[in-house]
Amino acid sequence: MAQDTNTPSNQHDRILVIDFGSQVTQLIARRLREDGIYCEIHPFNRADAAFIDAFAPKGIILSGGPASTTGETSPRADDRAFSLGVPVLGICYGEQTMVAQLGGEVETADHREFGRADVRVTGSSALFTGVWEENWAYPVWMSHGDRVISLPEGFEPIAATSSAPFAAIADEARHFYGVQFHPEVVHTPDGAKLLSNFTRLICGLDGDWTMAAFREEMIAKIRAQVGDGKVICGLSGGVDSSVAAVLIHEAIGEQLTCVFVDTGLMRAGEADEVVSLFRGHYNIPLAHVEAEDLFLGKLEGVDDPEKKRKIIGGTFIDVFEEEAKKVGGADFLAQGTLYPDVIESVSFDGGPSVTIKSHHNVGGLPERMNMALVEPLRELFKDEVRALGRELGLPEAFVGRHPFPGPGLAIRIPGAVDKDKADLLRKADAIYLDEIREAGLYDEIWQAFAVLLPVRTVGVMGDERTYDYVLALRAVTSTDGMTADSYPFEHDFLSKVSTRIINQVRGINRVVYDCTSKPPGTIEWE
Ligand code: XMP
Repeated sequence: MAQDTNTPSNQHDRILVIDFGSQVTQLIARRLREDGIYCEIHPFNRADAAFIDAFAPKGIILSGGPASTTGETSPRADDRAFSLGVPVLGICYGEQTMVAQLGGEVETADHREFGRADVRVTGSSALFTGVWEENWAYPVWMSHGDRVISLPEGFEPIAATSSAPFAAIADEARHFYGVQFHPEVVHTPDGAKLLSNFTRLICGLDGDWTMAAFREEMIAKIRAQVGDGKVICGLSGGVDSSVAAVLIHEAIGEQLTCVFVDTGLMRAGEADEVVSLFRGHYNIPLAHVEAEDLFLGKLEGVDDPEKKRKIIGGTFIDVFEEEAKKVGGADFLAQGTLYPDVIESVSFDGGPSVTIKSHHNVGGLPERMNMALVEPLRELFKDEVRALGRELGLPEAFVGRHPFPGPGLAIRIPGAVDKDKADLLRKADAIYLDEIREAGLYDEIWQAFAVLLPVRTVGVMGDERTYDYVLALRAVTSTDGMTADSYPFEHDFLSKVSTRIINQVRGINRVVYDCTSKPPGTIEWE
């Protein structure tokens, strides 16, 4: 990722997280930001000496990763990380590579250690201040194959497990620390406090990363980027695009044109809610484009999931282009891109990553219309976007809404989509969400929705035979949508929802619950 040295966060003291490809690297950033510390994650192979100097971190964290430090071509942190004179914390692979690079030894262990372990504190350290005491044992979460067997000069062991004598190490003089466990995951209960000790106590940051500061600084940045140009922003009804639009409007007022495209594939009440929020609550001008016939016409008879996504993406671009022409062209396209979309994953074999689903956004538009992107949320995680939404005064009901995908209900109707099916699904989905809200469960769930299956089954209602569609209910818990668990509803709740849907939505006579986690499933069905 090219470093944008003009980000508002550049004015804050910051931590550089060098990524070696761990599944949980993003959680390091999350834990730090929850503590008011600004940080950025950059892949190890991009964080060379010049980059590290330009970034000017107050501290460096080396993440975990799947590789072995014992290989010929093992990923390494640039040596500048250790000569810059700032504190360094190596986590798991990060500890191992630090040890290997500074003259210690690492070996492939006979047995790998995964999951919960107890570490015993064997020495005092600034890292443990006020959290862990010598001779006591504490639960942590481990995930490693290799282990450290001898330490570089200047390092001392400060904690051990039964199979890892160097579960935590420190060189207090140089402020270099290593932990074999993962402090960033919630399964290490004291992990956030240890990270806080590293950033605040050892690196000397004071936690000035607040949403109010971000808002002010981002507004200045948007003004500087846009000048007197025109910006166009598509609203999807989701939190991200709404927060981005409100923030940009605060920065540049009428230079912003918001477009809400009603594809005929929105949830019940979506269009009304978006239009009234923007026109009524914020007095932000909004073009409301009725494009149901256009979208459903293009989707007619198409049953391949990827084709459906591509058609929808392309049609969005057509509609946007038309709207931009109406306001005399736009120089910038605003998008609600979030940090998890930005972080490049590290590919160790150099091969291309697999496309599971081509996520819809108005991706082709900037090239076609020669527009630059305005992405004010690209440094934030979803919960930070929600916090920013609150800061900007968005109503709670809007801020807390479940995510909704760009292609809308089309990817919740496996197979070919038509208006009748979209209407059926919209009604059933509204009942399901209504019951979830009624039961007080909405905020516990990351995302809940109904899926209309292309399957009909026999039923009996009254004395009549029915031959109607099957509806699947989906609800998942997740922190970022990358992994998810199916929500464990009480059976009574599911029965109640099923009865209400079958009684009130003619055309559906059977309801099933999807209890697949992600992986191996995905959250959406297509
Ligand atoms: P999956 O189905 O990939 O979804 O497990 C993960 C999260 O992403 C949302 N999603 C999308 N969001 N455009 C979006 O803006 C898309 O094309 C898209 N596809 C999936 C999905 O709803 C879930 O929150």
